[in-house]
Amino acid sequence: MMGTRKGAAARVDELRDLVRYHDRKYYVENDPEISDSEYDELVAELVGLESAHPDLVTPDSPTQRVSGASTDGFDTAEHATPMLSLDNTYSADELRLFDRRVRGRLPGEDVRYAVELKLDGVSVALVYRDGALLRGATRGDGRRGDDVTANIRTIRSIPLRLEGPISKGDLEVRGEVFMPRSGFERMNRQRKREGDSPFANPRNAAAGSLKLLDPAEAEKRPLDAYFYQLLGADVASQHEAVQTMRGMGFKVNEETELCDDIEAVVERVAEWETHRSGLDYDTDGMVVKVDSLGQQARLGSTAKSPRWGIAYKFPAQSATTLVTDIAVQVGRTGKLTPVALLDPVQVSGSTVSRATLHNQDEIERLDVRVGDTVMIEKGGEVIPKVVKVVLGKRRGRPRRFRMPAHCPACGEPVSRLEGEVDTRCENVACPAQVKRSIEHFASRGAMDIEGLGAALVDQLVAKGVVADYGDVYALGASDLVSLERMGERSAENLVRAIGASRDRPFANVLYALGIRHVGARVAQVLAERYLSMEALEAASVEELSDVPEVGPVIASSVAAFLGTTRNRRVIGKLADAGVRMRSSAAGRRRTPLRGKTVVLTGTLRSMTREEAREAVVSAGGRVTSSVSSKTDLVVTGSGPGSKLRKASELGVKTIGEKAFRKLLGK
Ligand code: IVH
Repeated sequence: MMGTRKGAAARVDELRDLVRYHDRKYYVENDPEISDSEYDELVAELVGLESAHPDLVTPDSPTQRVSGASTDGFDTAEHATPMLSLDNTYSADELRLFDRRVRGRLPGEDVRYAVELKLDGVSVALVYRDGALLRGATRGDGRRGDDVTANIRTIRSIPLRLEGPISKGDLEVRGEVFMPRSGFERMNRQRKREGDSPFANPRNAAAGSLKLLDPAEAEKRPLDAYFYQLLGADVASQHEAVQTMRGMGFKVNEETELCDDIEAVVERVAEWETHRSGLDYDTDGMVVKVDSLGQQARLGSTAKSPRWGIAYKFPAQSATTLVTDIAVQVGRTGKLTPVALLDPVQVSGSTVSRATLHNQDEIERLDVRVGDTVMIEKGGEVIPKVVKVVLGKRRGRPRRFRMPAHCPACGEPVSRLEGEVDTRCENVACPAQVKRSIEHFASRGAMDIEGLGAALVDQLVAKGVVADYGDVYALGASDLVSLERMGERSAENLVRAIGASRDRPFANVLYALGIRHVGARVAQVLAERYLSMEALEAASVEELSDVPEVGPVIASSVAAFLGTTRNRRVIGKLADAGVRMRSSAAGRRRTPLRGKTVVLTGTLRSMTREEAREAVVSAGGRVTSSVSSKTDLVVTGSGPGSKLRKASELGVKTIGEKAFRKLLGK
């Protein structure tokens, strides 16, 4: 470790440059050069030096993205240059009219257009002073917005310090904060799992996230930003401004193009109308700008909007139609999804006859009933959704929908778990789910049956050879040889692999059952606590909820699974086949780190970081990255770094490699 302050200062500068460089590679350019763990090491070293030398911390350090506590409101931020908005157009002819107006005011001049995607997010203005991010604000009414600097700082693709030579004075960039569709879907799935209401669309999610009062919460939201306007820099054109911003480290949209005349613009716009669904972010149109900033200045603005640009809005992707019925689909994971069956209607070029209603809560929120007229919308997703009921068109007393009590695919009772919005079929033998459940059963970490992959499972189920994973152990070579691409040799190998899997530990068996929310780790915890399937079956939801690492969600999932008669029958088949239904004595002894939180630091001679991590997990422990008062043990290799110091400060027990190996019985 750097002894002197001067040495530390130099290393801190170097580390910051490195972290910034790799942040940009990863978050802006999507082209990482180092692994996550190498990156983590750099950050850890920087954090270590900064905590040893707090006077070296600067607000533009990459470690300072989450800064400040939560507030109860935002300050007002005044825009030095008002944030105007663009006029909207909806057709090629209106674009041609715009072109005529522009050329009318610039007689005899060549005019080129920069054509950009119109990103559907939240517009923001960022001010950089002497190269460092000073303030980030929302548009507000155009003159004054909210100062959301603390949340803006958490967006990893936004530089806290500009690249290149430090420019003195103020510089402003404007752009759009948005949430990628993939991040949006992931976040909504998690919200649903945790019982929070999902956001309606990525735009709302971005707006809501930017207005969070706690920056630490904002940091968890998958926000991103594209920039399209540069103020206070010496550039001659829009496309040059975009290049310049890219050079400064901002993320700019790669889809921007220059067009020599309005017909080329019209073509571009038509192309994007179909292509946009393939993007990972929402766009609601295109923006057409006179490229030359000199010409822009001469064209000027009206009170509301500039004359040099126009927004072309894509045609509405919504339509109204009649709900003829509400059906229920069962997905591969057992989720029951109500689907509105519709009178077929054209929406942005395709015929739509079904739209998802997500779940019972959503149906109640919308108050959709069979016979209603509804508005449907085609967003980024392939499946259209019902946005609202046109109540003015409701006639008579339309029928309300109720989730069925039994699965439409297998007839078993369905359940809706505590704190969840989805209704599910828990039956592992349900035809809608059986392929997936067998694949999971055979997968690595579960029963680990080599050779029993998706293609084979498809055939076995299609031919009716297996109806659930309980049938797997009854398979003989003669059942297998008739299958595609299955020679005698591979059939025998598979039968052997199936046989060998009977010896997997009880924890693997529990994991293999495919109980929702029961991953490998929870399965291990349950196997240690209950020791046998019988004991687990006898446990009540309350008792299960009290097990460390198991909360009410997991507890009710386990109880619902084991409470399903059909599942108990499948487990019975496994038991009859000789699959382990209890923890072995050996298995119980090998958990010296049961329930312990361990931090690894420095380099171990006899194993890699990953191997050490796995060893801790299989000894029943958990590995975290930083030392806190909750840490039980710090394992130190050579060159341990700041974690060791932190451990001694907090009085956390530390052991060296030798003692660690002894503890693991290695
Ligand atoms: S240029 C004078 N370029 O659309 C305003 N805006 O009314 C100049 N937007 O409020 C804005 N993508 O929030 C521009 N590539 C883009 C854009 C874009 C989205 C938003 C922006 C603005 C609104 C236009």
